[in-house]
Amino acid sequence: MKHIIANWKMNKTKEEALSFVQKLSFFLETNNYNKCNISIAPPFVHLPVLYNTNNSFNLIAQNVSVENFGAFTGEVSAAMLKDYVKHVIVGHSERRKYFNETNELLYKKIKILLENSLCPVFCFGESIHARNKGDYLDFIERQLEDVIMLFSQNELSNILLAYEPVWAIGSGSSANELQINEVHTFVRDLIEKKYGSMYAEKIPILYGGSCNSDNTSIILRQPNVDGLLIGGASLSNDHFHQIIQLANSLD
Ligand code: 13P
Repeated sequence: MKHIIANWKMNKTKEEALSFVQKLSFFLETNNYNKCNISIAPPFVHLPVLYNTNNSFNLIAQNVSVENFGAFTGEVSAAMLKDYVKHVIVGHSERRKYFNETNELLYKKIKILLENSLCPVFCFGESIHARNKGDYLDFIERQLEDVIMLFSQNELSNILLAYEPVWAIGSGSSANELQINEVHTFVRDLIEKKYGSMYAEKIPILYGGSCNSDNTSIILRQPNVDGLLIGGASLSNDHFHQIIQLANSLD
């Protein structure tokens, strides 16, 4: 089963979101895409709206507060999200970069998600600096060790991981298959060393960073890639439907 997640980031008005999901629902209902698990991560305000229109795909939240409740203007808690989603994106490089989210904060966010029976979609990935310097695997190892690997196997039983090299996001060109393979295999081996092979085989590792209909097949054919986290190309019905079609046609 391939996980195909649309991360809309801060895009789409309510009208645009509704129009998109109406077309997507029709597309999914008139075809049999049983090899893909489709999810949309819209802005928070659209979650209740889309929740009431949808049953052919999952909804995911793009963020969660590190606090449970209280005087934190503008924040949305895990308990509030629980009515609409099962998964929440945590650790996206845009949150790390523009909102100064550190590994320490991300650890706390994941703890709160787990306490609320929500599953993290944990994003990690190296900067262009680490890539050019050549120590990107150490960089990635630290991101995983400082956050998700502090939890037990049981706690992480429903987590999804997403490798998103910062330099590929929004750039128009994804990492190539050798680069993707190297990191995904490295991460699966790390998980295996800590939690054992039974668990390591099961944990989905998605790729994100300039995915589109031209590179979907080649990326998803890589042995350790279990899905895609898609930004820009998920905003257009045509592109997103094409990606689903391609993902579903692979063995
Ligand atoms: P793009 O697909 O626009 O590069 O964004 C990827 C991403 O950040 C998904 O979370």
